[in-house]
Parts: sequence; structure tokens; C-alpha cells
Amino acid sequence: MGEGRARIAASILNANLGNLAYDVRRVIRAGADRIHLDVMDAQFVPNLTFGAGTIRALRPATKAPFDAHLMIAEPGRWLDAFLEAGCDSITIHVEITEPIEPVLRRIRAAGRAAGLALRPGTPLSALEPYRELLDIVMVMTVEPGFGGQDFMRDVAEAKILQARDLLSHKPWGGEVHVDGGVNRETAELVGGLGADVLVVGTALFTKGRDQAREVRLVRTLADEGFANERNDGVPPRPRDEMVRFAQLPRHLAGPLRDAVERGDVPVVMLRGDGQVNPDGVRDYDLLIPRSAEAWARDQFSEAREAASVEADAWRARLLAAAGDTPPEPGT
Ligand code: DX5
Ligand code: ZN
Repeated sequence: MGEGRARIAASILNANLGNLAYDVRRVIRAGADRIHLDVMDAQFVPNLTFGAGTIRALRPATKAPFDAHLMIAEPGRWLDAFLEAGCDSITIHVEITEPIEPVLRRIRAAGRAAGLALRPGTPLSALEPYRELLDIVMVMTVEPGFGGQDFMRDVAEAKILQARDLLSHKPWGGEVHVDGGVNRETAELVGGLGADVLVVGTALFTKGRDQAREVRLVRTLADEGFANERNDGVPPRPRDEMVRFAQLPRHLAGPLRDAVERGDVPVVMLRGDGQVNPDGVRDYDLLIPRSAEAWARDQFSEAREAASVEADAWRARLLAAAGDTPPEPGT
């Protein structure tokens, strides 16, 4: 996992289709964060690639997330197969004719991230009706169908930054993906526009190119672009910087963790350096991503306060029951 902000999703469209599992393992070893799976049906786009069966066969090759990019006319019809194949996120196209909302709802009901992709010619406003169901907005900077095409700079500049607005309902974890023609030449611009995930295909599967160096270059340039454009030169914070939100006895920390996680924000619950309780067990820390700290404070300060009051009452009850002699701290 890279230090900075940008994540690299390797598109295997131009990988060695005769040895895909090997190429998947190789590109993850080279440092790519995820695998981008371009599924095409020769209807929605003029090309035919692989389906859920191939994805299922590739699943054991890596624990890295599988991002399926379905360039197919009827994703609803095939969705279960892609869910069963082990896709962690499924992005469909807003231009399809079948109803979109039910498909997005089914993806999320299966606990996966739901995304909408848009062709270069489609305005972002087309995603507006579905925004509350989105975890991913995938901005295509080439016409879907083939790898190795030229990057459309005008499309990038018109859409990448604005795409984030469609994810404003998510306190944490919404992702803008940029897909098509992303490489060492275009990474700084794409990062500067705030892309979270850069899909890189041909640049990683070009003979003679060192994959690890390409991954490092694209990620570093994207982070440089972000720092210069969005962060006034301050290096982007590592996405996974976690801060302590609460310190509570185990039986009170759990429910607060569950409540925060229902808001789509990941919480880490660890035995902390807090006080040892009368039951001999230390308090637990609840850690959340720094980027969600303001939201969590706003949403859960009252619940946190109530849990803290209950913790004091619980300790007092235990002490009274034990005759005020706290037992030795547990392991
Ligand atoms: C195109 C695909 C892209 C493409 C990216 O329809 O959705 O993912 O494979 O490949 P490059 O990086 O070569 O443009
Ligand atoms: Zn793609």
C-alpha cells in the first residue's frame, strides 16, 4: 500500500491473457493497489473481453481488491455472477438503457462498493439521480473499449474535480477513479485534480517497462500533483492516518464502533493505554480515519459522552460490588 493518497488500479486488459493469474500476481508484487477488470460484451462497446468466470478463476491469485468495470449493456442480468466471482467493487455505465438504481442497490446490498462510469461525452449531471447510491465515480478519459488510447485532457479538466461533489454524501471512502490513458505523462494532472484511484493499463503491461518503477512514478507524480494543486504544496496525508475518537471499556466501545461503522466509516478497536477497569481489562481505543474526524464528532459526540458517563457508573458499580478493592490488572 502506497504512503500517499493516490491508489493505482492495474487494468489487465492489455496483460498477457494467456497467463492472467501470473500477470495479476506480478503487478500486485510491483506495487499496484488493486486490479481493474474491464468486462466488455461487444454490445455496449465494440470489443469483447472476459466475464465473471475469468474473474472467479483469478480471485485466488491475490487478496488485492478487484474493481470490476462492466462495459456491458445488461449488468443487472449478469450481476450475481460478478458478485459471486469476488468483485469488491462493481462499476456500471450510466449510459446503459436498463434501470440503473436496482443494480446499484443490489451491489451495495451484497456489501460491495457501487460505482457509475461515464463516457467522455456524457455530462456528470447524468449521475445526479443516483448520487446517494454511489461509492465510486469513474471518469473515463478515453472512449471505452480499448487500452492504449490517448488521454483526453479536456475531459479530465472538465470532470475529475467536479466528480467529487457527487460523493459529498459519504463522510469517508468515496472514490473518484480516472480510467484511460493514465501514465507517467498524465499522472500529475490527474492527481492534481484529486483523483483517488488511477487506472493504469498499457503503461504497466508494455514490454520492456519496469512495472514497479511505473507504479512508483505514476503514484508519486499523482501525489505531487495533488500536493501542488490541492494542498498548497503540503504532501497529501496518508489516507489511512487513524486518530483516537473514544476510549471506553470493551462492552461500551463495541456498540459505539458499530454505530460509527454504520455511517460507512471504518473503525479500529484496539486495547489502548487507557485505565485498567475494575474487571481487570484496560479501556479500548476506537480509532477512525482523520478525514472523518469532524463528521464523527458532529454525529457521535453525544453517544460518546453518554457511553463515558455509563462507563463511570459501571466502574462504580463494580467497585461497590467488590468492596472497593480493585482486582489486579488482567493480561
Ligand atoms: C478502456 C478500459 C480502461 C483501459 C485502460 O475501455 O476501461 O480500463 O483498459 O488502459 P490504458 O491505461 O491503456 O488506457
Ligand atoms: Zn476500465
